[in-house]
Amino acid sequence: MKKGLAAFLVMLMMFTVPFSFAWSGPGTGGAVFAEAPGKSGSAFDQRIINRFNTDRVLEHMTHLVEEIGPRVAGTEEEVLTAEYIQAQLESFGYDVETQEFGIPNRVSGELFTSVSDEEFAIRVAPGSAATGEEGITGLVVEAGLGYPEDFPEETGGNIALIERGGMTFWEKTVNAQEAGAAGVIIYDNAESLVPVTPSLGGNQADVPVVGITKADGERLIGEGITATLTLSELADQVSPNVIAVKEPKGKPAENPEIVYVTAHFDSVPYSPGASDNASGTAVVLELARILKAFPTEKEVRFVFVGAEEIGLIGSRYYVSQLSEDEIARSAANFNLDMVGTNWEPATALYVNVVDGAPNQVWQSASAAAERLGNDSLVLFARGASDHVAFYEAGIDAANFIRREPGTANLEPWYHTPFDTMDKISESRLQEGGQLIGAAIYDFARKDHPGRGRSNEAPGRTGVLFNEDERLNMTHHR
Ligand code: BES
Ligand code: ZN
Repeated sequence: MKKGLAAFLVMLMMFTVPFSFAWSGPGTGGAVFAEAPGKSGSAFDQRIINRFNTDRVLEHMTHLVEEIGPRVAGTEEEVLTAEYIQAQLESFGYDVETQEFGIPNRVSGELFTSVSDEEFAIRVAPGSAATGEEGITGLVVEAGLGYPEDFPEETGGNIALIERGGMTFWEKTVNAQEAGAAGVIIYDNAESLVPVTPSLGGNQADVPVVGITKADGERLIGEGITATLTLSELADQVSPNVIAVKEPKGKPAENPEIVYVTAHFDSVPYSPGASDNASGTAVVLELARILKAFPTEKEVRFVFVGAEEIGLIGSRYYVSQLSEDEIARSAANFNLDMVGTNWEPATALYVNVVDGAPNQVWQSASAAAERLGNDSLVLFARGASDHVAFYEAGIDAANFIRREPGTANLEPWYHTPFDTMDKISESRLQEGGQLIGAAIYDFARKDHPGRGRSNEAPGRTGVLFNEDERLNMTHHR
């Protein structure tokens, strides 16, 4: 029996070893075997994989999404989230710093109409005027696309309803103001779950300007419909960043390099933000817990960012506070934003790099993907998350985000009230968390020369990398 088993094992090795053997790229810890998904031949990777606890990730997410709910910049819910993150990091043994920063003044409020008792979902145009506490009430006057001849006489003192399209939101606003409108409602010209946000191109309107969905716009077309718009200015608000630092150990270099692992914890209004971005926040918390136990030559900073959704305010503030010495020591930023959707088509883990160049974060992630036998990574040129702030400071940075391969589409409930826990995939959280964790640990373990933005050639491995696709899709979501 024993002899038979030994012969069987030799046979098995003869057949399996030549097919499964793969060299990792330079600087990734030597020769390893590409294993079944979720396994790596590198003992270092395996430390992360074995300890990554998806139940803990789901617990953090449930707290943020279901107990706290929408975590809009400048609100009490955003502060409660920061306090929760701080308490968790302290329980892992970190000293935690909370950094408070001012956020731009904004106008926010509500729209009620005579067609329903329910509030209409709106997006206030940045640059809209406020209305005062009593709001403005008027007849809803249909004004086509908002060309000067589209405004009927009764526009004066009333609320102009304008369809999106044909010219800029600012041109529509100027025309409405000239026709004497007291307020402007712009409705979308395509179906969407979220209201349109009319961008006024940095201009300041004299009247309130809001966006609504196409469906809601069509409900307001008719005789004698009235609306009340109440918008107030939110001034002098603040948001927090929460930071935990893992000091370099072992034989630290004199000026250790710094790796930043970031996730924003705020959400857009009305959205519980399960995917965007309780998912990234919770995975980074879990990685902070695991990595605490393992010495690294680089310093690792876990930076939980507020006020991302109103224009990357928290990450830009964080980077603005770094000293010249810290910037010089900064090696890379791994940013996690939307890593857990269960939307079926989102099978790829995109690595969004602002300029599309395969920097050290991409190289490290693609090397980890090869060791883990994961072929779902796509390099893509895209900003729109906190990695931009680090990129602007000359630091190699990338955002990890789940998308549909080929189209780069995001889940349809992105930024809607439907971004809830039932849209989250436990296995994708685990797969992404383990892969990104293995990449970060591999990168942080050793202090490398060559800081700052890398100009190295792509570390191409067996992962999906399609230049044409990347360039063609730069302008998609
Ligand atoms: N979670 C998204 C990330 C994202 C990245 C969405 C790339 C789409 C493409 C992020 O929170 C977000 O919504 N970003 C804003 C821009 C940001 C500067 C306010 C966006 O893409 O609209
Ligand atoms: Zn986000």
